[in-house]
Amino acid sequence: MKALTLGLLGLGTVGSGLVNILRTSSTEIERRLGKRFEIGCIAVRDLNRPRRIDTQDIPLTDDPFEVVQNPNVQVVVELMGGTTLARDLVEQAIKNGKHIVTANKAMIALHGNELFELAEKHQVQIYYEASVAGGIPIIKALREGLAGNQVEWLAGIINGTGNYILTEMKKPNADFSAVLETAQKLGYAEADPTYDVEGIDAAHKLTILASLAFGIELSYSRVYTEGISHISADDVRFANLFGYEIKHLGIASRGDDNGFSLRVHPTLVPKKVLLADVNGVMNAVLIHGNHVGSTMYYGAGAGGGATASAVMADLMDLARCWEAPFDAHVPGLGYQADAIYKDANIMSIDDIDTAFYVRFMVKDQPGVLARLSQTLADCDISIEHLHQEPMSDEPDFALVVLTTNVVNEGQFGEALAVLEGLDDVEGKITKIRVSDF
Ligand code: NAP
Ligand code: HSE
Repeated sequence: MKALTLGLLGLGTVGSGLVNILRTSSTEIERRLGKRFEIGCIAVRDLNRPRRIDTQDIPLTDDPFEVVQNPNVQVVVELMGGTTLARDLVEQAIKNGKHIVTANKAMIALHGNELFELAEKHQVQIYYEASVAGGIPIIKALREGLAGNQVEWLAGIINGTGNYILTEMKKPNADFSAVLETAQKLGYAEADPTYDVEGIDAAHKLTILASLAFGIELSYSRVYTEGISHISADDVRFANLFGYEIKHLGIASRGDDNGFSLRVHPTLVPKKVLLADVNGVMNAVLIHGNHVGSTMYYGAGAGGGATASAVMADLMDLARCWEAPFDAHVPGLGYQADAIYKDANIMSIDDIDTAFYVRFMVKDQPGVLARLSQTLADCDISIEHLHQEPMSDEPDFALVVLTTNVVNEGQFGEALAVLEGLDDVEGKITKIRVSDF
């Protein structure tokens, strides 16, 4: 039986998960493919680090260039992360005629445009299913399953760590840093967990999803990005009181005049919608196509097993089409390279229309709510829910939370500036967008 030789860069959470699948599912893989995989070599950073899997029969090296230069390696599986060395190695591998399978969303989001071009020049493939939404085959769904549609919008929970944290925050007295530490121990978080908490990882993934959905260049620097670090336990509680859950969403939508909105931010979603019920490390992506309508994809968004499952599927796709010419493979971003829109019009966040939740402190004195309502009404904003409660630690102040109707974001920003300038209002106002996905 024909064997394909793999060279792995990295043997951490995902790399170990892949070796585990190759070992435990080889019979099933061979039944499906009529081919088998061999591991030629694996690069790690520290040869002395204890490993989750037995490495006795695998040649390990701490020089990753050995892997990409190894003449026996046919496919380089990049599972080490980062955007500098990983990119150099992937470029070198492509120039050496090796196909690439990667889970590295940061590298694809930041350097994918150039890497796909280089791959085409050298007639090799880059597969990256594991880079978005862990084990969910979302890239295959967008590139192939929904190819007959014009995607109008998509919205998803695309960071497992962030969703795990927001879910745990619903429990009384949950401690943010302790919850994050658990997510790290479970292998969910990025090497730098601020990527998860500040929305950077979700923005990398949204960049990829938006390109696949709309046939636009990868445009990471133009994604509006907001994380979850400013969400308090009070916000989670008030959202609940109003009938919402707080979810960290990546949203890409097609606007008028061929403009696109690309944004990542916490969002209040009504408890009755499916996304509200996606908890823990689970991810879900809702995609609306012009013919199919809305479809939704759900599954584990992080962790070794789920992510390696997506890497394995890519390897099998590649192996199945091994002898096929370059053009017989689905194009990297799903569209013919020369048909991808360069410099697409990405809308400013100030141009979107959305409802808002806001929380702020006011001086506890008569007439304050009437003055707040009047200020918002003067700016053409109406209040949907309003709640006020005393603050046990600040007896002279009260906490006010409210939600609004759908307004233009730029206009709402101006209204908030007026509110913050009122004598009644103390400190900064926290705002979270509200949507009915
Ligand atoms: P990880 O557990 O930190 O593993 C990284 C591996 O790369 C380690 O084996 C490390 O070696 C090796 N490595 C790092 N720098 C190296 C260098 N300079 N030379 C040689 N080897 C080096 O990371 P991971 O969680 O598996 O993530 C890997 C990639 O998958 C990242 O791009 C990540 O964003 C992506 N991803 C992860 C998940 C997830 O749930 N974890 C899900 C989807 C995508 P040592 O073991 O010796 O330190
Ligand atoms: N850190 C990422 C997450 C890993 O938590 O979603 C999966 O891409």
